Amino acid sequence: MTRPDRKRDIRQARARIESLREEIRYHNKRYYVLNDPVISDREFDRLMAELAELEARYPALITPDSPTQRVGGEPSKEFPTVVHAVPMLSLTNTYSGEEVEAFDARVRRALDLDRVAYVAELKIDGVAVSLRYEGGVLVQGSTRGDGTRGDDITPNLRTIKSIPLRLSTADSDLLDIEVRGEVYLSRAAFKELNEVRRKEGEPLFANPRNAAAGSLKLLDSRLVAQRQLEICTYGVGEASAARLTTHVDVLSALKDIGLRVGEHWERCDGPGEVLRYCEVWAERKGGLPYDIDGVVVKVDDLDSRRLLGSTTKSPRWAIAYKFPAEEAMTTIIDIVAQVGRTGIVTPVAVLEPVEVSGSTVSRATLHNIDEIKRKDIRVGDVVAIEKGGEVIPKVNRVIVERRTGKEQPFSMPGKCPSCKGRLVRHEGEVAVRCENVACPAQVRGRILHFASRNAMDIEGLGPALVDQLVEGGLAKDFSDLYRLKLEELSGLERMGEKSAGNLLREIERSKEGSFTRLLFAIGIRQVGLHAAGILAERFGSLDGLASATRGELEASEGIGPTIAGSIISFFGSPENRAVLAGLREAGVNPVQDTAPRRRPLAGKTFVITGTLEGYARDDARQRLVDLGARVTSSVSEKTDFLVVGANPGSKLKKARALGVQIIDEAEFRRLIGDR
Ligand code: IVH
Repeated sequence: MTRPDRKRDIRQARARIESLREEIRYHNKRYYVLNDPVISDREFDRLMAELAELEARYPALITPDSPTQRVGGEPSKEFPTVVHAVPMLSLTNTYSGEEVEAFDARVRRALDLDRVAYVAELKIDGVAVSLRYEGGVLVQGSTRGDGTRGDDITPNLRTIKSIPLRLSTADSDLLDIEVRGEVYLSRAAFKELNEVRRKEGEPLFANPRNAAAGSLKLLDSRLVAQRQLEICTYGVGEASAARLTTHVDVLSALKDIGLRVGEHWERCDGPGEVLRYCEVWAERKGGLPYDIDGVVVKVDDLDSRRLLGSTTKSPRWAIAYKFPAEEAMTTIIDIVAQVGRTGIVTPVAVLEPVEVSGSTVSRATLHNIDEIKRKDIRVGDVVAIEKGGEVIPKVNRVIVERRTGKEQPFSMPGKCPSCKGRLVRHEGEVAVRCENVACPAQVRGRILHFASRNAMDIEGLGPALVDQLVEGGLAKDFSDLYRLKLEELSGLERMGEKSAGNLLREIERSKEGSFTRLLFAIGIRQVGLHAAGILAERFGSLDGLASATRGELEASEGIGPTIAGSIISFFGSPENRAVLAGLREAGVNPVQDTAPRRRPLAGKTFVITGTLEGYARDDARQRLVDLGARVTSSVSEKTDFLVVGANPGSKLKKARALGVQIIDEAEFRRLIGDR
């Protein structure tokens, strides 16, 4: 390379380095100080990686204040400084199975081994500290600081009850030891703390990690003592005399001398087992009493660790596996108005597909126009989305900093996007409705609900098919399903004669369903599965219910004026009566056995954990109660059955420990007599 070329390169590198540093400082502040990040962790890591790479290529451009030159926060002026005997490093983040496998490959190559054992631990989201014991006595406790120098916060750490002031060991090798661990606040303690702060008008902490960090920085250790901080130790810094050969040894030694270690760590033979551990905890983490943000994977053998060594920032023998973000950032491509079966028009954001909590998301509900205005959500905005408990993800906030000026505000259409009919907003309601019962979108929604699993359970009747039926005029309401002909169906897109035949058989079979199902399926407002069950039992048939008076309805257990009113108005509508006549004509008229209830589960106690696919939690509970069972919220010796859905919490573990019978959703369905 010629000299002028080299000079130009350096000039360009310097400019890029400076702009990267500025950007990184800004994002650090957004994250750590303001707790309001505007880019994802991954995007941040990419910026840091680019800076580190440039600095490695042009070492002369490294400055001591570069973000690459420090590990964590700077030591503060209020506390004396501690120089760490062994630097407190940080960990390289990984986000995927491939990256974990690549780590294993690097480790094996460096050690020239075919197989390496690891220990996987939970990565608690708190504050890293070092505890120095001399002659078995706690003499110093400090924060990580910049990795080399931290704050001496001994008085504060001494208030934490799970930190022993004196070790319980006769083993003289372990009396002089520097232990590393994470100080954290449980979610419950965090909530309680913020509750108190709210009452006293003090600013709230954004999350348990910030609350723990803030607590350790208090100058008055008497206040720290009130904060319910806890510690989990996971390693040793300086320990010249200790004869430990593996990390498993380290953890058991720490426990022996009286320190708390995590209870969930596992020794893993190779990356396959490591990844299984990561998957398990990505699912179970919600059941822990504290926040974790990933898994730490460490080479088990301590000699191997010494061989692998460290870079200036992180050890080569460990990595952090970060869980998929619960919150992700993406762009709103469009906002569309969607008409549901009840005519309510819901604005829905169409998103640039993005991965959240392990699945790809391309739509998010925006609830209603007031919500859009309140959050100032516009088409083209970059937004943070979150997959909460519901199936449909929601938009948390707009990243205003990423606006370009081209974003378009959304306004609700004046006409129904489906039938072009008038939209109305009733006094005092936020919802906008299309009041045309014949609106194709509503018809579509009603048919889909009618066919759904807890309703008539017509398999094979999905959205694409219902669209064709409605658009082609083959179904104007759900009673038309029972008049469909083989020739009509087999002519439809992606429908052969065979699947058409199957569908007709499914439709025919649905006639045998219970009256409860039918009552839920016809979609009377406010009448869910639970109310449908009560009404079916009390009134026996559609005719019986249609002729019930308001007084009779309200006399039923659990039926109040709202549901009663909604039933009366449903049967008062000539359109609805015509649809029901159509059903009766087609032979759909189940009659409920109104004999006194059978209570086959009387005397049995149930607990439900995790998410059931086919039942809302309340419905599942009600079904059990209807059969005479007791349903409680926590597992004890008195529990007979634990019903386990997806992502079960700690109840599963407890049930196993107590030998409670565990049943999955399929068994549950059989037990309550659903097909
Ligand atoms: S090992 C050099 N183990 O994660 C090894 N760290 O980004 C450093 N952390 O500073 C730490 N749980 O604050 C380790 N089981 C665990 C951990 C853990 C949480 C934190 C710790 C550390 C940061 C690394």
